[in-house]
Amino acid sequence: MSGKLWGGRFQNSAEQWVDEFGASIGFDQQLVTEDLEGSIAHVTMLGACGILSQDEVNTIKEGLHQLQQKATEGSLEFSIANEDIHLNLEKMLIDLVGPVGGKLHTGRSRNDQVATDMHLFLKKRLQEVISLIEAFQKAIVTQAEDNIDTLAPGYTHLQRAQPISFAHHLMTYFWMLERDKQRFQDSLKRTDISPLGAGALAGTTFPIDREMSAELLGFSAVYQNSMDAVSDRDFIVEFLSNGSLLMAHLSRFAEEIILWSSEEFKFIELDDAFSTGSSIMPQKKNPDMAELIRGKAGRVYGNLMGLLTVLKGIPLAYNKDMQEDKEGMFDTLHTIVGSLKIFEGMVRTMTVAKETLHKAVHQDFSNATELADYLATKGMPFREAHEVTGKLVFLCIQRGIYLLDLSIEDLQEASSLIESDVYDVLAPEAAVQRRHSLGGTGFEQVKIQIAKAKECI
Ligand code: ARG
Repeated sequence: MSGKLWGGRFQNSAEQWVDEFGASIGFDQQLVTEDLEGSIAHVTMLGACGILSQDEVNTIKEGLHQLQQKATEGSLEFSIANEDIHLNLEKMLIDLVGPVGGKLHTGRSRNDQVATDMHLFLKKRLQEVISLIEAFQKAIVTQAEDNIDTLAPGYTHLQRAQPISFAHHLMTYFWMLERDKQRFQDSLKRTDISPLGAGALAGTTFPIDREMSAELLGFSAVYQNSMDAVSDRDFIVEFLSNGSLLMAHLSRFAEEIILWSSEEFKFIELDDAFSTGSSIMPQKKNPDMAELIRGKAGRVYGNLMGLLTVLKGIPLAYNKDMQEDKEGMFDTLHTIVGSLKIFEGMVRTMTVAKETLHKAVHQDFSNATELADYLATKGMPFREAHEVTGKLVFLCIQRGIYLLDLSIEDLQEASSLIESDVYDVLAPEAAVQRRHSLGGTGFEQVKIQIAKAKECI
């Protein structure tokens, strides 16, 4: 006798260390709420379908409610000998209400049970992730609204490229997050499906009503194929994949925050609450939280690769390999929730060094395109205009000045098309102002963009 709930056909029991290796209770106890919810719906349905008597249903439900109460108090004691959350709770139920507790598992398998728990769990948490993304988007919009007129250097190849509104830069992240949000929302459709009643793989001989238990649990649909119901982990892969892309975005933003708060840039200052000091260098204020988020992207990608690899070679239907779907999912959830909360606070409380940014765009060649465009507007072929401007930039570099410092004589020597109105065109404010193509950095366009963004949150 093995002493297990499934021990009938066993002669010997496994050694403790083998049990420990196979057990998932250490981590799947996080599914306790969902497992009990699933059981309550299942037993309610068994009663409604006449599979269990109303008395039996009431007794089992009473026991399940007591377990819910204990779970809330945190007084449930799980054991490795009972392997996972499902068997632990079933054992506790039988201990509480007697052998009738053993009727709960009628017409059900742990295979559809665990899948149901995972669907319920993720469905709930997806909503939390979506609202955290929105909260972060709001913080970005608030900073953007405060920085529409803040000029900043725009970069390509991390080289100064063209002047922009700092709000325009910040809002880029808003739209990346908007796509992340949409992806999570879309994945809800495929998470909101009930596998309950699929049994081990083939369905059941009991006259169950899968639609009823699905409805009791708030699912919008049921799996149409019992084997698919217990084999499918796509919804978790989607979560990990969407989480990975979200982390890629957060990591890019984190990298900019780190650069911007360096002495070399000094474009922003992070609030003390989101920075740390050095144990040896008294002057240090390190952007630790941003660095940590950049680093945590790695573990989320790892979780995605882990699950894809688990799934790639397993035959239908359930295989114990699939127990490996959990830790990566819990870890990803924990990581993205934490990262979103930190980022929201970090962006909401950061100080934008408007003066430094203003100075930066006045001390670079990011207005060179303006000069080339100016010449092209006056009829010079753009390629030629590019060449003329490039030569003027080179002249400035030799003299240690910027384009706006050149005299009209110097400019006219390069091209007789240049007149004194060029100085207005070369001003960084004008460079931004004049980019009023749809979605461009022109101040008016940025305002329109922010108004559109507000409709999304
Ligand atoms: N702990 C298992 C898991 O997480 C539950 C399902 C077990 N089913 C089985 N037939 N062994 O995947």
